[in-house]
Amino acid sequence: MKKHKICVIGLGYVGLPLANSLSVYHDVIGYDSNKIRIDELKNFYDRTGEISYQDLKNTKLKLISDPDKIKEINIYIITVPTPINDQKQPELTALFEASKLVGEKIKTGSIVVYESTVYPGVTEEECGPIIEMVSGLVCGKDFWLGYSPERINPGDSVHNLSQITKVVSGQNEDITGILSDIYGVINNGKIFKATSIKVAEAAKVIENTQRDINIAFVNEISMIFNNLGLSTLDILETANTKWNFLDFKPGLVGGHCIGVDPFYLAYKAQKIGVNPEIILAGRRINDNMGKFIAERVMQELEVGDKVLILGFTFKENVPDIRNTKVIDIYNALNNFGVEVNISDPKADKNEVKEVYKINLVPLTKEKKYKAIIIAVQHEEYRELSVEDLGTCLISKGLIFDLKGILRRMNNPKKIRILTF
Ligand SMILES: NC(=O)c1ccc[n+]([C@@H]2O[C@H](COP(=O)([O-])OP(=O)(O)OC[C@H]3O[C@@H](n4cnc5c(N)ncnc54)[C@H](O)[C@@H]3O)[C@@H](O)[C@H]2O)c1
Repeated sequence: MKKHKICVIGLGYVGLPLANSLSVYHDVIGYDSNKIRIDELKNFYDRTGEISYQDLKNTKLKLISDPDKIKEINIYIITVPTPINDQKQPELTALFEASKLVGEKIKTGSIVVYESTVYPGVTEEECGPIIEMVSGLVCGKDFWLGYSPERINPGDSVHNLSQITKVVSGQNEDITGILSDIYGVINNGKIFKATSIKVAEAAKVIENTQRDINIAFVNEISMIFNNLGLSTLDILETANTKWNFLDFKPGLVGGHCIGVDPFYLAYKAQKIGVNPEIILAGRRINDNMGKFIAERVMQELEVGDKVLILGFTFKENVPDIRNTKVIDIYNALNNFGVEVNISDPKADKNEVKEVYKINLVPLTKEKKYKAIIIAVQHEEYRELSVEDLGTCLISKGLIFDLKGILRRMNNPKKIRILTF
C-alpha cells in the first residue's frame, strides 16, 4: 500500500480518532486552529474522551496548531464543525476557512476529502471553488475532491472507526479507489463506494434526518398518550413485538448531529423551492420536548420546590455539552420558580460554568429534593437503585425517569416514579 502524507484539519470528536488511526499506516499531521486543544493533546489529554492517555502517548500523529507547519501534503481531510446559526441555517464558516487554508497550501496532484456533514453540493459547488480561487489550480485537473461522511457515534465502543462501514466518494473512479484504499486499511476494507460526491453528502444527511423524524414521531405519541394517561414505554414495548415496528424511544434530541443536520437538508430543499414539511415538523416537535417535559414535571411541583436533574450532556456517556436540550428543562423549570440543581459525572464542570453559567453539583444525600429527573442515561446512573435515589428525596418526593431505567427495578419504598 502506498504511504501518503495526510493532513487532517480539525481534531475534534471526528478528526482526532481518524487522524490517530490513519497515522498507523501513513505520515499524518493533525492540525487544529485551537492551540489549547493541541497543547492538551500534546500533554496526552483528549477532552472528548475518544483517545486514551496511553494511545496519545504512543501515537505517531504529528500535532500542530501552526498552519505554517503544513507541508508536503498530498491528501487533506477536513473534519471541522458544521453547526447552524441563530436562524437555524447552515453555518459553513469553519468549512470555508479550512478550504481557504488548503487553497494556500495545496500542490498539484493532491486530493481534498471532506468529512464534515453538509447538504448535497457543498463539496463541489462551494468548497472546491474556494480552493481553486485561492490556489489558482483547477479542480478535477490539478487537484481532486472527495467526500467521506463520518458515522462514528461518540461514547459507543461498538460502532467505532474500525467496525463501521465507511462511505467514500471521489470526483472520478480513480480518486474513489485511492480513498477506498486509504480508509480501507483502518476498517478491514468495509468500504462502500458511493456513486458520486453528492450522493455521499445526501446519504449522510438523510441518515441523521431519518433518525430525527423517527424520534419526533415517538415524541409526538408520548404527548398524546401522556394526555390519555397511558404509558408510552409500555405501548412501545407492546408494539415492538411486531416484526417491522421500529424501535425508537421518546426523549431529548440535542448534540452536534441529529438536531442540526436536518436543518442542512431543509435549507437546501428551500433553496430549490421544495417545502421540507416532515423534516421541519420533526425538528419543531423534538426542539419542544424540553418544554413539554418541564410542563409535565410542573404538574407535580409547587413554586419553591427543589429539583435535581441527573445528566447534562447531550447524550449518555460522553462529555459533550454542545446543544444539550437538558438546558431547556432547566430554563423552563427555573421560569416556573423551581430551584434546580444539575449533576453530571461526565461533563466538565468548568466548561458548563463557562458556557451555561451553571454550577454542577455532586450527587449526595446531603441535600434533599422534591423531585429527581433522570435526563441522561450515564453508566454511573445505571448502577443506582430506586432506594439510592430515594435518599436524595424529601418524603413524598418523586422521580421522573425520562430514560425508563427504573421501570423494572425493585421499589420497596414505593417511591413515585413517572416516565414516558
Ligand atoms: N461528533 C460526532 O459524533 C459526529 C459524527 C459524525 C459526523 N460529525 C460531523 O463531523 C464534523 C466535525 O464534528 P466534531 O464533532 O468532530 O466537531 P468538534 O467541534 O468536536 O471538532 C472540530 C475541531 O475543529 C477545529 N476547528 C474549527 N475550525 C477550524 C479551522 N478553520 N481549522 C482548523 N481547525 C478548526 C475545532 O477547534 C475543533 O477542535 C461536523 O460536520 C459534524 O457534523 C460529527
